[in-house]
Amino acid sequence: MNTIKVGLLGFGTVGTGVVRNFQHNSELIQQRLSHKLELTKIATRDVDRDRGVRLEPGVLTSDIDEVIANPEIDVVIELIGGYEPAKSYILKAIANGKHIVTANKALMAVHGQEIIAAANQQGVTVMFEAAVGGGIPIISAIKENLCSNKFSSVLGILNGTCNFILTKMSQEGSNFAPVLQEAQELGYAEADPTFDIEGVDTAHKIALLAALCFGTTVDFDQVYTEGISKISAIDIEFAKQMDYTIKLLAISKNHGDQIEVRVHPTMIPKRYQLAQINGVFNAVRLIGDFVGPTLLYGSGAGMDATASAVMGDVMAVSRDLIAGGKPRVPILGYNADKIKNLPIMAMSEVVSNYYLRFTTADQISVLAKIAGCLGTHNISIQSILQPEEREIDSVSIVVMTHEAKEADITSALAEIEQLDVVLQPTCLIRVENAPV
Ligand code: HSE
Repeated sequence: MNTIKVGLLGFGTVGTGVVRNFQHNSELIQQRLSHKLELTKIATRDVDRDRGVRLEPGVLTSDIDEVIANPEIDVVIELIGGYEPAKSYILKAIANGKHIVTANKALMAVHGQEIIAAANQQGVTVMFEAAVGGGIPIISAIKENLCSNKFSSVLGILNGTCNFILTKMSQEGSNFAPVLQEAQELGYAEADPTFDIEGVDTAHKIALLAALCFGTTVDFDQVYTEGISKISAIDIEFAKQMDYTIKLLAISKNHGDQIEVRVHPTMIPKRYQLAQINGVFNAVRLIGDFVGPTLLYGSGAGMDATASAVMGDVMAVSRDLIAGGKPRVPILGYNADKIKNLPIMAMSEVVSNYYLRFTTADQISVLAKIAGCLGTHNISIQSILQPEEREIDSVSIVVMTHEAKEADITSALAEIEQLDVVLQPTCLIRVENAPV
């Protein structure tokens, strides 16, 4: 085997980046592999669109089977995205003995078990580095370089679009909608941007990282997911005044018999490294029992960075093929029969610090009533901020709590919102004060 033949499904932004990487670095790739890597076929619905890259005649096809049922092709790259038809194509390619490289986080997070089982049965691999953190080699770090570690937590900023929006809102005082549009124009956002801004894309990614770190299946439906669409300029401003930054954080912690897996806007102290991750950049922080805290940082979205991750996987698969064919590393980095089924901790059991912003009437003893309710529910106040600026008939009271159980916060807020001096629903943002 002197040439490894690769087929590509889907020819959008990342697909174009993959072609550019193939062409631009073909000599380097050959030097590193000592074999030729050939992009034999690209299947796309739109064969006529000009993507600004030149291809040999016959490479483009609208017939999927020219990729997934092509006996010459060794590796299939899936960049269609979404659940169907991507899943059916991948399963068919696996049945035909192809190794799979995909950037499809939604598919892997929700249907990964079925795909991995099919691949294991066929003796082929499925690699998905590009599904998490764009160009950051986080999956290979977990599966390979750090694989002698027991991980206690993995958390990070995993959505470039949200981080871009929050950064701009924070630095420029911009509004949400125009910044989202800019992110879409730059090619960062998913086709449906609600997946980005409502945290679903981040949830897909942390579900995959939790599975890889803790060697467990992750029931995606149980991942608590809250996006950034309700974050307002006023909360960004209060966060700044208290030396905090708001980030959309994905958090997973291992409690032995269960795991925490959650996504929500989170206040982190400005001095923490993750608070410095701005724009479209992503970062993942792992804690391993031997390596200690480790931060990986890089471009989390975009054509070339994501293509780099796809191509890294293609070359890793190619090296296995050159060495004899059997995938060297298990798909989740643990032997298939050692994968656990750890439950996800109920959100009501989660312990965190909280930022609570109450909108109240400016009357005597409002603060005492709120503090009383918090106290009744075992919630200890760490600090209070009541700015002098106010609306005509209401004021904001900001409370930072010590660690509290989410169930206690929920009951306290239900009681507080019954008070006639409380004029609007409370704004709640969880605070991560552990050194993230
Ligand atoms: N829409 C994703 C993001 C692309 O903004 O991070 C990379 O997964």
